Amino acid sequence: MKPADEIEDLRQRIRTADDQYYNEGASELTDAQYDEMFVRLRALEDQNPELLTAESPTQSVGAPLQRGGSFATHEHLSQMGSLESLMQPDDVEGFVARARKLLELDEDDALRWSCEPKLDGVSANLLYEDGVLTRGLSRGDGQTGEDLTRNLRTIRNLPAKLAGDGPFPAKIEIRGEVIMSKRGFTALQQREETSSEGTFRNARNTVAGTLKLLDPRVVKRRPLDFLAFAVGHVEGAAYPTHTALREKLASWGFAVAEPAATADSLAELHAYHDELERRRDELPYEMDGAVAKVDDAALQQQLGRTSRTPRWALAYKFKPRLARSRVEHIDAQVGRTGAVTPVAHLAPTELAGVTVRNASLHNWALLAERDVREGDVVEIQRAGDVIPEIVRVFEEERGPESTPAKPPAACPICVNPLQTEGKFLYCVNIDCAAQLVGRVVHLASRRAFDIEGLGPKQVEQLVEAEIVRSVEDVFALRSREEQLLKLDRWGKRSTHNLLKQIDERREPALARFLNGVGIRHVGETTAKDLAQHFSTLDRLRTATNAELLAVDGVGDEVAKAVLEFFALEKNQQTLAALHEAGVRPQACERTDGGPLTGRVFVFTGGLTTMSRDEAKERVEALGAKAVAGVSKKVTDVVAGGDAGSKLAKAEKLGLRIHTEDEFQEILAQA
Ligand code: IVH
Repeated sequence: MKPADEIEDLRQRIRTADDQYYNEGASELTDAQYDEMFVRLRALEDQNPELLTAESPTQSVGAPLQRGGSFATHEHLSQMGSLESLMQPDDVEGFVARARKLLELDEDDALRWSCEPKLDGVSANLLYEDGVLTRGLSRGDGQTGEDLTRNLRTIRNLPAKLAGDGPFPAKIEIRGEVIMSKRGFTALQQREETSSEGTFRNARNTVAGTLKLLDPRVVKRRPLDFLAFAVGHVEGAAYPTHTALREKLASWGFAVAEPAATADSLAELHAYHDELERRRDELPYEMDGAVAKVDDAALQQQLGRTSRTPRWALAYKFKPRLARSRVEHIDAQVGRTGAVTPVAHLAPTELAGVTVRNASLHNWALLAERDVREGDVVEIQRAGDVIPEIVRVFEEERGPESTPAKPPAACPICVNPLQTEGKFLYCVNIDCAAQLVGRVVHLASRRAFDIEGLGPKQVEQLVEAEIVRSVEDVFALRSREEQLLKLDRWGKRSTHNLLKQIDERREPALARFLNGVGIRHVGETTAKDLAQHFSTLDRLRTATNAELLAVDGVGDEVAKAVLEFFALEKNQQTLAALHEAGVRPQACERTDGGPLTGRVFVFTGGLTTMSRDEAKERVEALGAKAVAGVSKKVTDVVAGGDAGSKLAKAEKLGLRIHTEDEFQEILAQA
C-alpha cells in the first residue's frame, strides 16, 4: 500500500474506533490494537510530513461529539488533554531526555517525576465553585464535554462539597477517572447475569456505558468510583508540585490513584513501572500502565504542551495481555436464570500467568457478528479478573471445511425448546437440571442462604444422584442422610455439618430469601430494597406494579420481573414447597421503637462525612423514615452543601432544618 493510502486507511479506522469509544462507550478494537494503529499512523506522518493534516486523529483528542446527543454540552474551562502513550523503554528514555533538554538540565541535575497508575476507566472533569460541585463533564473532544452532572453525583466517593474548612479556590476543575473496581465489577456481573442492556464486557466498557445512561437511579446502583489525578483551570490557588496536589485532593475528600511514588532517575521510573505491572493483578482496579508527571509545577509550566499532550507527562503502558489460541469447540452453557450462552473451549494457553481454557462469547448475536468458529485461530485477551475474551479471529488461517457456529435449537441439558429474548436465548424450563445446579448453588451462596458446603461440585453430585430434583429438596436432605453418606467424598462429619447448617438457615432474612430464590433482575441490592419496603413476603407477592415502582431503585424491568415471578404457577409451587419444608423468611425489621421512631427525614445537598444512602440507612436503623421529597409529614431536613429547591421548600413550610454537624449530633445522641 502507498503511504498516502495507508495513512488514509488508518485515519478512517481510528476515527471509527474513536467514535464508537466516545459516543457509544464501546469499541470493537482492543486498546492494544488501537495503540498499534495510532503509533503506525504517527510514524507514517513523521516520515511523510507533507501528508500531515490538521484533521488527522494524531492532531486532536477524542472524537467529535455526537450531534443531537442526549446530554447538554459545555466547554471545559481549560482544555482536557491526553497523554503520550509509550510502550518501549527506549521511547520513555527519549521522552525524558527531551524534557531534560528543554529544561536545560545538566547530566547530574535530578528531575523528579511523580508516578501513579494509569487508570483504565473514563475521564471526567468536575467543576467546584467555592468548594461546591456545580458541574461534571465528560472529556468529549477535549474542548467540550457532555454534562453528566446528575450521573456523576451518584458516585459514592465523589464529594459534593470539598471536605475541610477551606478556604477553597473560587473555581477549580478537578480531573480524574471514573472507574469500577474489579470487585465491584464482579459483583455487578453476578447481580445481573444478563440484562436487557446486554452483558457487561469489562469494567471500562461498563463504566462508559453507565455514564451514558439517562436515569441516574440506575447509575447509582452501579458500583462506580472516582479517582482524582489532575486539575485544570484553577482560580485562587496554586500547588507547587504534583505530590502536593495529590495531598490536597486527598484532604478534600477525593480518592487518588495508588500506589504512587516519586522517581528521581530513569532507573527509578522503570522500576516503578515494572513493579506496578508485576502487581497488576493484586490491585483493586484495572490499570493499563504507569503515568509519570514532572513533579514541579513550575517546570511543568516551562515544558508546556503540544496540541494534543503535555510535554511534562507520559503514559508508560503495560504489555498487552494477548495470546494466540485455537477454538476447539463452541458449547452452549445454561446459566442459573436459564440464559443459554455460547462458550468457546480453547486449547490450553498461557496468558499472563494463568492457563486459559475457556473464553466467554456473551451471546449468540455477538458470536455471529464476530463470526467465531470451531477450529479458528484466535487472539485472546485477559483484562484483570474477568474471563478472557476473544478479541480477534485470524480468518486467513481458516480451513475450507470451516462453517459458522450455530445457536442450539433446544436446551443442551433438558432438550426443551428455547425462547429468544433480545440478544439472549433462554431455557424456560425451571426444572432443567443445568438451571437447577445453578439455582441451588446460588440459593446456598454466602449472600443468600449462606449454606457452606453446597458448592457447584456437591450440588452437581446431588442433582446427578437425583437426591435433589428441585430447590426445595435442599431442605429435605436430612431425611436422605444415608444416601448422602454413600456419595463420593461425603464424609460423616462434613455431611453432619451440612445438615446442621441447613437446619440453622431455615429462617433467613427476607432480603436473603429473595436474593436466594433467583428472581430475574433481582440481585442482592434490589432484594434488600424490596425487603425494606415490603417487610414481608406476603406483602411483596401481592404488590401491584405501581407499588413496586414506588420502591427506590425499582424500575419497569425489575417490577415486571417480580410480577412475573410471583404469577408463575411453578414458582408458587416452589414457594409453597419451601414453606412446607419449614423455610420462613423473616420479616424485615422496620426498626419501630428506635430512638428516632416517628421522625421523617429528608436529605438535600451533598454530605461530606457519608453518602446520602448511608445517612438514610443510619436514620432508618434508628427507627426513623427517610423520604425523598419535602412535605408537611417531614420532621427533619438535613441540608448538605449545594442544597437546592428542597431546602427552599422546607424553609417555606417552616420545617426543622439541620446542618450536617447538627445531624451528626442527632446520630450521636440517638
Ligand atoms: S493525567 C494532562 N493521570 O489517561 C494530563 N491521566 O491518555 C491529564 N488517565 O484522559 C491526565 N490515569 O483519562 C492522568 N493517573 C493518571 C491517569 C490518567 C488514567 C487517563 C485520563 C486521560 C488519559 C490520557
